Amino acid sequence: MSDDGARGDRARGLSSRLTRYGDNEFALFLREAFLKAQGLGADALSRPVIAICGAGSDFNPCHATAPKLVEAISRGVMMAGGLPLEFPTISLHESFSHPTSMYLRNLMSMDVEEMLHALPLDAAVLVGGCDKTVPAQLMGAISADMPTVSVVVGPMLTGAHEGERLGACTDCRRLWGEHRAGRLDRSGLDRAHGRLMPSHGTCMVMGTASTMACISEVMGFLAPGGATIPAVHSERLRQAEEAGMRAVAMARAGGPTARSLVTEASIRNAAVVLQSLGGSTNAVIHLAAIARRAGIELTLEEIDAIGKRTPILCDLKPVGRNYMQDLHAAGGLPALLRNLAHASDDLDLSAQAGDGRPWSEVLADWPEWCDTDIIRTPDRPVVPGAALTVLHGSLAPDGAVVKRAALSGHLMAHEGPALVFTSLDDLDARLDDPDLPVTADHVLVLQNAGPVGAPGMPEAGSIPIPKKLAAEGVKDMVRISDGRMSGTAYGAVILHVSPESAIGGPLALVRDGDRIRLDVEEGRIDLLVGEKELDARRAAWRAPDRPVRGYARLFHDHVTGAERGCDFDFLEGHPDDA
Ligand code: FES
Ligand code: MG
Repeated sequence: MSDDGARGDRARGLSSRLTRYGDNEFALFLREAFLKAQGLGADALSRPVIAICGAGSDFNPCHATAPKLVEAISRGVMMAGGLPLEFPTISLHESFSHPTSMYLRNLMSMDVEEMLHALPLDAAVLVGGCDKTVPAQLMGAISADMPTVSVVVGPMLTGAHEGERLGACTDCRRLWGEHRAGRLDRSGLDRAHGRLMPSHGTCMVMGTASTMACISEVMGFLAPGGATIPAVHSERLRQAEEAGMRAVAMARAGGPTARSLVTEASIRNAAVVLQSLGGSTNAVIHLAAIARRAGIELTLEEIDAIGKRTPILCDLKPVGRNYMQDLHAAGGLPALLRNLAHASDDLDLSAQAGDGRPWSEVLADWPEWCDTDIIRTPDRPVVPGAALTVLHGSLAPDGAVVKRAALSGHLMAHEGPALVFTSLDDLDARLDDPDLPVTADHVLVLQNAGPVGAPGMPEAGSIPIPKKLAAEGVKDMVRISDGRMSGTAYGAVILHVSPESAIGGPLALVRDGDRIRLDVEEGRIDLLVGEKELDARRAAWRAPDRPVRGYARLFHDHVTGAERGCDFDFLEGHPDDA
């Protein structure tokens, strides 16, 4: 066997994946000399190697507790007889990732995959949590296919401000919207500012970070109950310690590997959980990408159909009222799965949980107690109907997504004239113009915010209500784009329109005044313009310039559409599938 360390090798420790010199004994001799220089003795060098993939950065406040978690994981690894070695990858925070973290997600996944291939390791522990981190780490780990455990950093605690409970980022958006509408002055906004994020951790509503943590848990990457533990609770450190111990056991057993956890059943379970959580629309993209890394296709139609059969049981913002610490105290994800099991034929409890047992066994042992105000029973859903709905029609032949549970009922079916913004800069320049010819009936259309167009599909889809309408008390309007929106946002926002405008999708052909018809219950989004007129516009359409070099060029040439997960086409699947 080559020293590259084929998948499935058991605890080969430092002798695996040797740097190539044409003399493997020398390569190991040199490697051990460098580690001795780091102070490691003969016992340490003989142990299974557990690589801890950290994603800390001073630019990533969500991951501020990562060093403490790494310490706890390392302790667990050593207690179980392994050698913990931490390595860094790039770190993505939503507010510090220009132009958008989605643009960098695939780069991070490549970083994770290639380092897991490059380093001598018997198992890996992934530490992270901010929105794109978990999908990037899982995508990389699935492709690398090592025994892998995930430890999410966990959600922030909520803040209290002038008699109100506040949480990022749903309340950040709500307060900013109040300020734009003139209902909250600058000093009121500034007073609330310091209370929106009172602790370390990830956004504590059911945004993308929380959704992806729960998805990791149901797919078996994370210990049962692990997704919801607040970042600053000691329970999180104890869970990290256990994860270190589990990684050593997995290293010795040679599995389960990351890819083996991604099955038709675990992907379907993840889609059920996503819908029942009223989770982030971003997760639709991430889940498609995660599935495809393992050679499984998850279509928008399947997500839609599962949504129609799945009750929304989790009462968390932005769909409901509560926060992640409440979900944890209410019983956590296992309690949700147990309540769901009575109502969902899609859920497969023979799938593996993060402690190696089938979910059916985990749930049999999980405490009976559940706060059913927060984790509802199927007869009392938070909102009736599906959480996330997929739309098709002449404006989105390959699909679009709407967070149905978070839009105003009166906009469930709507027809109105389009008001088109051709780019994010155009939106920024004109949205608040007092002379903008806009009414509450208008459909705001944002073009060139897709994977190729922006690039990286920024979270600009929840276009703010134009200032003059906000001041009149308008709270929701139909907004359509090929971009995304934060999982913490809400409103009649049609997202991920595909094909996107920058590759010539119908969204690129919309002009001011065109009639657009939305019918969420029917799953339709249509541009009411004749074929002949559209053909003429299509003939006049010109593609934006192709980037000339670097990652921008790679991204432009290889990113897939939202319905396929926005992965790079050459990263889908697995070498063994070829
Ligand atoms: Fe990091 Fe929200 S910005 S999780
Ligand atoms: Mg977010």
